[in-house]
Amino acid sequence: MNILLLGSGGREHAFAYKIAQSDKTSKLYIAPGNAGTSSCGENVSINSNDFIEVKNFSLSNDIDMLVVGPEDPLVNGIADFFAEDKDLKDIMLVGPKKLGATLEGSKDFAKDFLNKHNIPTARHKSISIENIQEGFDFLDDLQAPYVLKADGLAAGKGVLIIDNVDEAKTSLKDMLNGQFGDAGNTVVIEEFLKGIELSVFVVTDGRDYKILGAAKDYKRIGENDTGLNTGGMGAVSPVPFADKDFMDKVEKQVVIPTVKGFEKDGIDYKGFVFIGLMNMNGNPYVIEYNVRMGDPETEVIFPRIKSDVVELFEAISTQNLSNYSIDIDERTVTTVMLVSGGYPEAYQKDKEITGIEDCQDCIVFHAGTKKNESKIETAGGRVIAVSAFGKDIKEALKLSYLNADKINFEGKYLRTDIGLDLL
Ligand code: AMP
Ligand code: GLY
Repeated sequence: MNILLLGSGGREHAFAYKIAQSDKTSKLYIAPGNAGTSSCGENVSINSNDFIEVKNFSLSNDIDMLVVGPEDPLVNGIADFFAEDKDLKDIMLVGPKKLGATLEGSKDFAKDFLNKHNIPTARHKSISIENIQEGFDFLDDLQAPYVLKADGLAAGKGVLIIDNVDEAKTSLKDMLNGQFGDAGNTVVIEEFLKGIELSVFVVTDGRDYKILGAAKDYKRIGENDTGLNTGGMGAVSPVPFADKDFMDKVEKQVVIPTVKGFEKDGIDYKGFVFIGLMNMNGNPYVIEYNVRMGDPETEVIFPRIKSDVVELFEAISTQNLSNYSIDIDERTVTTVMLVSGGYPEAYQKDKEITGIEDCQDCIVFHAGTKKNESKIETAGGRVIAVSAFGKDIKEALKLSYLNADKINFEGKYLRTDIGLDLL
C-alpha cells in the first residue's frame, strides 16, 4: 500500500516509525516530514493545506491511504475534499470530516455536543459581544478562578485562567474585542475544574471504537509545572491514577456517548479522538476534544501499540473496527522533550544536533529537525522526544533521561521532572 502522511512533528515521526514497520506498507511519503521521518519513508515538500497539491501528489503517486497528523487540514475540510472528489474518494483516509473536526475547531460546538449527549463537563456559557452582560453575570455567579476560552483555534494560547473577577471581566471584553482575532468572537466561560489532568486516546470508525490508552503530558516550560505553556515537554503512558475503575468510567460516561453522539448527529468520524480530561475525585470530566493525536502523547502511546497500525488505519477508514482487535503493550513508555533555548518564546534554529547515534534502548523521535547535507540541525522549538520503555515509570524515565543527556545542541533545554509526580 502507498501511504501519504501529513505533518512534520514528533507525532508524525512516531506515526511514520510504526507505519514503516507494517508489511502492508509499500511506500511511505511524509509531507513535509523532518530529519527523523526521512529514515522511515520519503519526505516530500507539499503543503498539506493546499488540497489541490495533495490531490495531484496522491494521484501521481498512486496513494492508497492518507493519514492526517495535525488538525488544520481536518478543520479546513481535507476529508470532505477527498470524499467529494471522484478521483480521490477511494483513497482510505484517517481523519474526520470538517463537521467532526469542529469539535476541536470550536469550543462552543464541543460544549454543545457534550451537553447534548450528557457527557460530564464543566458548566459553561458561550458569550459574544451581543450578550456580554450575560457573561458578566455568569462570572459573578462562579467561584474563582475563572476560565475563559476563545471559541476558535488560537494556537494553544486561547485559554485564560484568571483569579480575580474584575480582571476576568476585562479579559472577556478584550477577547471579544479581538485579542485573539476572530477566534475570540465567541468566548466560552467555564466553571473551573479542580483535579488531575490526563488525556485518553481513542480511534473510531464512526460506529465502533478502540481505546489506545491514557497519557499525561507536561505542558509548562518550567520544573514543577511553572512558566509559560508549551506544546508539551514530556509524557507518560499509561497513567497510574487512571486505574481500571476510572478507565471504565471514561469508557461508559465519555467514550461510548461520544461515538454514539457522532452517529446520532450524523457526524462522519473516522479517525482519532483525543479527549482531554480532568479526574475530579475519581470521576472524569471532559475539558476538550482534539481531533488528532497529541504531541508528545503519540510518542508514548504509539510505541505501546503492538498491532500493525496500517491494519488499524485500514479498519478505521473502511468501518471495520468491530472486527479488529488491538494489542497494547502493558509496559510504560515515557518521553522527554528536548527544546531550543528560548522556547516557547523566540528561539534560535539551525543548530547542529549531535549524539543521536550514541543513544541506546530508546526511540529518538524527531520533531523540529532538518537535514543539512550530512548534519542534522534544529528547525523548531520542540526538537527531539526521547521515548523509552520500562516495566514501570521509574525504569522508563531512567532510559529517557540517560539518552536525553547524550544528545546535544546549542541552547538545548529539557525539564528534569517529567513523570516524577506519578512515582
Ligand atoms: P483547553 O485548550 O480547553 O484544553 O484548555 C487548556 C488548558 O486549560 C487545559 O489543559 C487545562 O489545564 C486548563 N483548563 C481548561 N478548562 C479548564 C477548566 N474548566 N477547569 C480547569 N482547568 C481548565
Ligand atoms: N500535547 C498537547 C497537544 O497535542 O495538544
